[in-house]
Amino acid sequence: MSRLQEESSAPWRVGVLFSRTGFMSVVEDTQYQGTLLAIEEINDAGGICGRQLVPVAYDPGSDASAYGHFAKRLMIEDDVSTIFGCYTSSSRKAVLPVVERLNGLLWYPTLYEGFEASPNVIYTGASPNQNSLALCRHLMDTFGSRFYLVGSDYIYPRESNRVMRELLKANGGSAVGERYVSVQARWQDFLPIMQDIRRLKPDVIFSTVVGEATAYLYQAYANMGLDPRRMPIASLTTTEAEIAAMGFDVGEGHITAASYFQGIESDANRAFVTAFKKRYGGDVSTNMCAEASYFQVHLFARALEQVNTLDTDVLRSMVLGTSFEAPQGTVTVNPASGHADLWTRIGRANRAGQFDIIDESHGAVHADPFLIGYGRATAHAG
Ligand code: ACM
Repeated sequence: MSRLQEESSAPWRVGVLFSRTGFMSVVEDTQYQGTLLAIEEINDAGGICGRQLVPVAYDPGSDASAYGHFAKRLMIEDDVSTIFGCYTSSSRKAVLPVVERLNGLLWYPTLYEGFEASPNVIYTGASPNQNSLALCRHLMDTFGSRFYLVGSDYIYPRESNRVMRELLKANGGSAVGERYVSVQARWQDFLPIMQDIRRLKPDVIFSTVVGEATAYLYQAYANMGLDPRRMPIASLTTTEAEIAAMGFDVGEGHITAASYFQGIESDANRAFVTAFKKRYGGDVSTNMCAEASYFQVHLFARALEQVNTLDTDVLRSMVLGTSFEAPQGTVTVNPASGHADLWTRIGRANRAGQFDIIDESHGAVHADPFLIGYGRATAHAG
C-alpha cells in the first residue's frame, strides 16, 4: 500500500476491468455501468470514511489475455489492489495469477462453472448449485430429458456442460448432442447446429453461448421456425441485455436461470432499476451481471468502512460473512468459500424483453462451488 492510499484524505483508487468494446461488450458494458453507478452512489453519500472512490478503468476489448496485462498494470503501475471486473472465465483465469502473486483482490460479478476458490477473489455470480441444478430439474419436469448442448468454445461452457451432463445422467436424462462455436461466431456458424437439432429432435437446447454470438444462436433458431413452447433454448447466460440485442420477438418464450431479473418486485430492486434508467436511459434494462457488479461495490464499501484500509488480507477477512440488501434479495459472502449466497430463479422471456419469473428459491442458496452437497440436494430451487 502506497503512502498516497494511506493519507487520510486521499481518494480510494480501485481498478475496473470490463470490455466496453468487442464481442463481449453487449453484457460487460452493463457490468461497467453497474459498477460506476454504485461508485457514484457511494461518493454522493460522502464516500467511505470521508474519502471518495476513484475508478481506474481499462477496456480489454474482449481479449481474454488483455485482462491479465491490465490487471498487472493496475497493481504495479497504478498502485491499485482491489479490482472489479471480468465476465468470461478465460479473462478471470488470466487475472488470477496476477492477483494471487501480488496479493490483490478481484471482485468477480459473473456466474461461472465453479470448482475454484481463490483467497484473492470474491465471487458474486452464481455457481452451478445456484443455477444449473434448478434449471435442469425445471427443464426435465417441463420438457423432457433429452438435452442438446451448445456453447462457446472456452472453459466456462465446456465445464458448465460437464456439470449439466452429470446432472442429466444422475436424473435419468441424456445429452443427445454437444457442439461448440468460436466466441466470435456469426449467425451462419449456427446453421449446421440447427440442422443437427432438427435431425435429433431434443426436448431442450441448453446454451452456454456468450456475448454477441448469443443473438445469432437465437436468430438462427427463429429462422428455422422452431417453437420455444415445445423445445426452448435454456441458458444461464442469456440476460435482458442479450435479449435486447437479438430482438424481443426472437427471445420470447426462451428460458434463463439467474439470481436476478429486472422484474423482481422489491423496494431495493425498484430503487436500483430507477437509478440505472435515470443514469443510462429509460430503454436500458438491468440484468443479473449488472446487478452483481452493482451490489458487490456496495458490499466492498460496507467492509471498507469497517476496516478503513485496502490491505487485501484485512479487507477480505471483513468481507467474509458480510451481507447486503441487494436488488435480488439479501446476499451474503459465504465465509467458507468467498462465494456469495445468492437467490435462484427461473425466468421465461416475454414479448417486452423481460423475464416472467416462473420459479424461485425461498431465500439465498448457499454457495457450493465444488458441488459438495449435491448428493444431498433436492433438485428444487428452494
Ligand atoms: C463465464 O464465462 N463465466 C460466463
